[in-house]
Amino acid sequence: MTINIAIDGPVASGKSTIAKRLAELLNYVHIDTGAMYRAVAIKAARLHLDWENEPALFRMLDSTDFAFTPTGELIVDGVAVGSDIRTQEAAIGASTVSRHPLIRARLVAIQQAITRSKGFILDGRDIGTVVLPDAELKIFQVADVRERAKRRTAEYVAKGLTVDFDEVLEDLKQRDANDMNRQHSPLTKAEDAVIVDTSHLTIEEAVALILPMVRERIRRTETHD
Ligand code: DC
Repeated sequence: MTINIAIDGPVASGKSTIAKRLAELLNYVHIDTGAMYRAVAIKAARLHLDWENEPALFRMLDSTDFAFTPTGELIVDGVAVGSDIRTQEAAIGASTVSRHPLIRARLVAIQQAITRSKGFILDGRDIGTVVLPDAELKIFQVADVRERAKRRTAEYVAKGLTVDFDEVLEDLKQRDANDMNRQHSPLTKAEDAVIVDTSHLTIEEAVALILPMVRERIRRTETHD
C-alpha cells in the first residue's frame, strides 16, 4: 500500500533534502515543486521577459514542456534543469513568478496530473492546502530563521560562491514574507498537517521522526480499504 506525502514549509527549512531521503528509503518519487517555479523564472530571464509580466509568462508556458524522470528529476524543454536553478537569482525570480495566479494554476495542474496515483512525495508551499489536499500525510516543516540562513550560507559556500550571512538572512526573511503574504496560495499550514521543527535536528534525525508517521498512515490507509 502506498500513500502520498505533502511537505510544506518556509525557505531552506530542509524540505527537499528530507523529502529526497524519504523517497529513497520508501522507494517513492520525490517532486520538488519549487524547482518548477525556479525553472519558469530562469527561462523567462533567458527570454528577457519581465518576472512581473504575468500574461507574457503565461504565454511562455504554452511553449514550455515540463517532464520528470522516473526518479522525479525535472526536465524542462527536454533538458534536465540541474544546478542552474540553485542560484539566488533563480530564488528571487521564483518568489516573484509564483505570485501570479495563472502561473500557479498551470503548475498546480501539472503537479496534480502526475500524482493521480500514489507513491509521491511533493515539497513546496501549497502542497497540503492546494496541490494534494487528500495527501495521507502532511508535514509542515519549520526551522529557526537564523538556522536556515546558516544552512543556506553553507550550501552556497560549498558550491564555491561568495556570500554574506547577513545578506542571506535578509533574503530569507524577505522571501518568507513574500511567500506568506502573497494573495494567491500563501504559505500556510494545512489544518491536518503535522509540524516538524528541524532547528535542532540533523537530516537523519528528521527522517527518523517522520518515518514512523509514514508507516502509521500506511497502516491506517490499509485498515480503511
Ligand atoms: O522551495 P524553493 O525555494 O525552491 O521555492 C522557490 C520559490 O517558489 C519560493 O519563493 C516559493 C515558490 N513556491 C511556491 O510558491 N509554491 C510551491 N509549491 C513551491 C515553491
